[in-house]
Formats: sequence, C-alpha cells, structure tokens
Amino acid sequence: MSIKIKTPEQIEKMRTAGKMAAEVLQMIAPYVKKGVTTDELNQICHDYIVNVQKAYPAPLNYHGFPKSICTSVNHVVCHGIPNDKMLKDGDIINIDVTVRYDEDSNDALHLNGYHGDTSAMFLVGPSSLKTRLAERLIKNTQECLYLAIEMVKPGVRLGDIGHAISKHAHGEGFSVVREYCGHGIGQEFHEEPQVLHYGKPGTGEVLQAGMCLTIEPMINAGKRETKVLKDDWTVVTRDRSLSAQWEHTLLVTDDGCEILTLREDETIARIR
Ligand code: MF3
Ligand code: CO
Ligand code: CO
Repeated sequence: MSIKIKTPEQIEKMRTAGKMAAEVLQMIAPYVKKGVTTDELNQICHDYIVNVQKAYPAPLNYHGFPKSICTSVNHVVCHGIPNDKMLKDGDIINIDVTVRYDEDSNDALHLNGYHGDTSAMFLVGPSSLKTRLAERLIKNTQECLYLAIEMVKPGVRLGDIGHAISKHAHGEGFSVVREYCGHGIGQEFHEEPQVLHYGKPGTGEVLQAGMCLTIEPMINAGKRETKVLKDDWTVVTRDRSLSAQWEHTLLVTDDGCEILTLREDETIARIR
C-alpha cells in the first residue's frame, strides 16, 4: 500500500462524492434542534443519501459500525453512534458524513465508488454565558482546520501541518487528540497517509499534486486523553471535557488545494 495519485477521471469522481457529502450536511443542518434524537438525524441522512442521492452511506457496516452517520455529542470525540437520546439546549454535536458514489456503478453499495468525507459542529439552542466555552472550542477547531487547509500544496510536509494545528489549539489552552487522525481517501474510505493533527515541522509525508486526503482535527477543552466506551465505537474524553471536530476532504493541486466538501455557509475559497 502506498499513497495514491488520482487520475483526472478519478478526481472528477472525487469532486462528485465530495459535493454529495457536503450537501448532506447542508440538508441536515435545519433539523439539528432541541428535541430531535440522533437516531432521527441518522434516518434523515440515510434516506437522503440512499433515495435522493442514490449513493451509499460509507459508515454503515464499516467494520461493523451500525449506523449511517456518526453523531458525537459534547464530550464524545468521534465515532458516536446515533441513538434515541434527544438533543437539548447547550449541547454541541459533530455530524460526520461519508458518502460513497460512482455514477457508473450498478450496485446499491457502490463498492468501487469514491468517498467524500466531511463533518461539522452544531450548537443546539441560543448562545449564552454558559455556552461560551463550547463556542470558543468550536471556533478554534474550525480555525485549526482552515489554517491547515491554507498550508496544503505540493512540497509541504504533514509534520508542518500537524504542528501548526496543535500550536493554534494550544494557544487557546485546548489540547489535540492523538489517537485518531485524518487520512488519504479515494476508492477506500481510509487510505494512506495518516494525517496527524500534531507533529514536528520538516517531518512526515511530502504532499504531491493529485493526492486526496482529509484533515479532521479533534480538539478538547480539557486534556487530550481519550477512551473507547463498551460499545467499541464511541470515543470520549477521559476527563469528560468537551470535544470538537471539523473535517474536509481535499485535493492537492499543482499550486495549492481544492476543498472537495466545501459548503455554502463557508466563506473560504474552494480553490486556493
Ligand atoms: N468519518 C470518519 C472519518 O472521518 C470515520 C467513521 S468510521 C465509522 O474518518 F465506522 F465510525 F463510521
Ligand atoms: Co475522515
Ligand atoms: Co469523517
């Protein structure tokens, strides 16, 4: 296994898959309200991906994952399993969507399809004095993603990017999760390389045009340590502090990158 450089045809398919994943997040946003359950959010996303997009929700049955999206609430870092618990005012939630699609595919699973992987944070209910920390964490984490994206171009090393992310998080007194990382992406959900959100400048893989990868920093308000719950999926902060994550799928271009999962609510440029 090695890092794959995508052909122009494959890149076009990655654009399509990325756009679909972004559209799912845009579609679900108005439903993220007090009183909705994460099971309901899962069902709405599943139906949209399968029936409207005619694509496949890649998490479903991925190494046994039981649902179509990940929903990670408050101190859940990632891989939260949708359940029947209602969201309440002041909760923060990450919704992580991965769509697999190939227009030339006949099978409903799109087994040879391409993946678009993206996640976003939502604050439930009005902002208040009580939600200040959560909002600061959400904002800092998105800044970490954006500053990393701004660095992506051929010749840059992954250690440079990881270092910049952790520096920005530490500057706000937050910590960076180390056990989970971004990844190459394509016909496989998770390809090489591993994209760590911390690192040493001048080390790690050198980016090349034609690579597709995700950056998906997980930033904690407290300590960085995590543990996995008995369900074997849900990752939480050991100290139960809040955790935030944002994710985009990127294409490395000749002089920068293209954000394949950009949404309409974002103000940064798609091509940079
Ligand atoms: N979408 C996650 C990522 O960004 C992976 C989820 S795997 C699952 O890499 F099985 F939990 F869905
Ligand atoms: Co990912
Ligand atoms: Co993801």
